[in-house]
Amino acid sequence: MTTRPRVYVTRRLPEAALAIVRQACELRLWDEEAIAVPRATLLREIADADGLLSLLTDRIDAGLLDAAPRLRAVATVAVGYDNVDVPALSARRVLLTNTPGVLTETTADLAWALMMAGARRLVEGQRLISAGQWTSWSPMFMVGQDVHGATLGIVGAGRIGSAVARRAQGFAMRIAYHNRRPAPELEAATGARHQPLDQLLAESDFIVVLVPLSAETRGMFGTREFALMKPDATFVNVSRGPVVDEAALYAALRAGRPGYAALDVFEREPIGADHPLLTLPNVIAVPHIGSATVATRTRMATVAATNLVAALTGQPVPHPVNPEAW
Ligand code: GLV
Repeated sequence: MTTRPRVYVTRRLPEAALAIVRQACELRLWDEEAIAVPRATLLREIADADGLLSLLTDRIDAGLLDAAPRLRAVATVAVGYDNVDVPALSARRVLLTNTPGVLTETTADLAWALMMAGARRLVEGQRLISAGQWTSWSPMFMVGQDVHGATLGIVGAGRIGSAVARRAQGFAMRIAYHNRRPAPELEAATGARHQPLDQLLAESDFIVVLVPLSAETRGMFGTREFALMKPDATFVNVSRGPVVDEAALYAALRAGRPGYAALDVFEREPIGADHPLLTLPNVIAVPHIGSATVATRTRMATVAATNLVAALTGQPVPHPVNPEAW
């Protein structure tokens, strides 16, 4: 009879992460890369599991906990954990861990890719060529906005927001940020100024959203907020879709304020080809790839696996979310 903890893994992860789990635990796996584990399968598999290694596509709630009497720890392969009912876990003394830090720079890179792509209309340009519509170099053809020297407004100045701000120094940007708490280190390192949200929205040429999804941030960007933005502003969301009211964003983009939106995340993912925002020329949409580089996704998986094994074997846990409840 085995005394090793039992772990269920909800997606095929890089082998390096699975090996960390296998070393110390009995592992069962939903062996698919692109298909999320069906809820019924998850509830069945979790019945005798001590640990769960899961993704942001898995809903971890009281219903799941009811089906998991032995569960002691959940490790999510993500920094954001709005898919997890943390109070429900804490009430049952189940530890949650996440993967902060390892994806900071990679996600900041994507925020920049979206800013640049929006400002210089890269996707529109590609579409135009593919449609055979490039007829001539003309003086005001496909003109966009300068990034260098512009004003960058960062909403949510945590690790990733700060990494976005650091990059802006190389582009001689003025940097404003809005955050629950002032971030003196960020100000000292980059010259960023703390601003009330409305002022930041009204003055920024680029608005990059990096707040976690919570009751306070759900729907934070709606009709009123978009109306404050400059007509040529580029709005970038690399946090979570539901912080934006997409219907309001659609109407705002059609009305020309902001001028552009570049989005990595959506209210309900995955979106399909029929999503209304995709009908607008001034939208760039990518499929939630903020942390999606080989190195970073591999590191996230190994960090999550290390968290889980530590929790299940009584070692200090590197990244606990609710340590007080455990
Ligand atoms: C990805 O969106 C994450 O939260 O890690």
